[in-house]
Amino acid sequence: MSDLSNKHIVLGLSGGIACYKAAELCRALVKAGATVQVVMTEAAGQFMTPVTMQALSNRTVYTSQWDARELNNMAHINLSREAHAIVVAPASADFMAKLLHGRADDLLSLMCLARPIERVPLIVAPAMNREMWTHPATQRNMAQLKADGVHVLDVGQGEQACGETGDGRMLEPEEILEDLVALFQPKVLAGQHVLVTAGPTYEAMDPVRGITNLSSGKMGFAIARAAREAGAAVTLVAGPVLLPTPRGVHRVDVRSALDMQMAVAQNVDAASVFVATAAVADWRVADVAGQKIKKDDSGQLPQLAFVENPDILAEVSQSPRAQSGALYCVGFAAESHDLLNHATAKRARKGVPLLVGNIGPATFGLDDNALLLVDEQGSQALEHASKLTLARQLVAEIARRLKAS
Ligand code: C5P
Repeated sequence: MSDLSNKHIVLGLSGGIACYKAAELCRALVKAGATVQVVMTEAAGQFMTPVTMQALSNRTVYTSQWDARELNNMAHINLSREAHAIVVAPASADFMAKLLHGRADDLLSLMCLARPIERVPLIVAPAMNREMWTHPATQRNMAQLKADGVHVLDVGQGEQACGETGDGRMLEPEEILEDLVALFQPKVLAGQHVLVTAGPTYEAMDPVRGITNLSSGKMGFAIARAAREAGAAVTLVAGPVLLPTPRGVHRVDVRSALDMQMAVAQNVDAASVFVATAAVADWRVADVAGQKIKKDDSGQLPQLAFVENPDILAEVSQSPRAQSGALYCVGFAAESHDLLNHATAKRARKGVPLLVGNIGPATFGLDDNALLLVDEQGSQALEHASKLTLARQLVAEIARRLKAS
């Protein structure tokens, strides 16, 4: 199942140089399983031809409210009734001003006004010069559109086509896609604050060398994304990994287990759910050398002594908030065999209500996994699937347990 299977999206383009990104967005939507109907304003046609959008969407493009293809000549009604969502990308300053006033002098604005407001969400991705973006009129319009129930996406920052630098760039197609996919997910964690640890830790030996492990962080990042999609505020404490931050997630980068312990301590009081997916190093080097340990000709090997790292999850699960039920803790166990027995024992040892087992060597670095959920009642397998699919299932399970408690 792709993220947008069975979804029909009307993709609206208003005038702006960011129309070139709408072509990529259209492809991304189709790739995610959606059917896409493109509607363009006259100004959008100055930047992108309908031919390009037709080829990418595999449907003829609508540009006029007088389109004679519609037997009842009501394209604005027909197109908006079919849609699961209308996405206007790019949304120009002028188009947003028009939406705000409920003006309807071309097909796209007419269709937005005519959409069944309870059933068809309207998402706009603003794109404009930085002065236009920060202008009080635009900011006022944006605030009012949000109050009217329109999903106004944020804007990117950086170099603009006009040569200036600042806020107002349209989000990248994959960012818009991620926000749209999130919109369709059930908001089972609305009002919750989820703290997630992810990735490995890195324990320095000297300024250039250290000890780490093969955790990729992908499962933890997928859980952070799924929790955010489910409506939670999410803080992600990430060890050293090269993964993009999920949209809308607050990320705190750390390196060592002690850094991670401190970041968790700083953020855990605000959290109502703690999910520890990080592969925290069990030991760190006792005396980190201030300078690079040099190889000399004596044949003497460096002698490393270790000390045990704190068990972050066990500490959190023993805290008064966790013990009172104000903080729900979820642990992970990466095992190589006998998953049920090891996960059951680890759940007891860590003192958590839910422990998620997986076979580490079978999943390290990969995009898919299989999980075994162990709680007081027993165990439940989540069958082999992508890490994001499993993360969404786990989030639903956590939400179910929160509701029951
Ligand atoms: O003991 P083990 O490392 O197998 O436990 C795994 C679980 O405990 C994971 O949830 C992991 O994030 C957490 N953990 C931790 N701090 C440690 C070791 C593990 O939070 N020092």
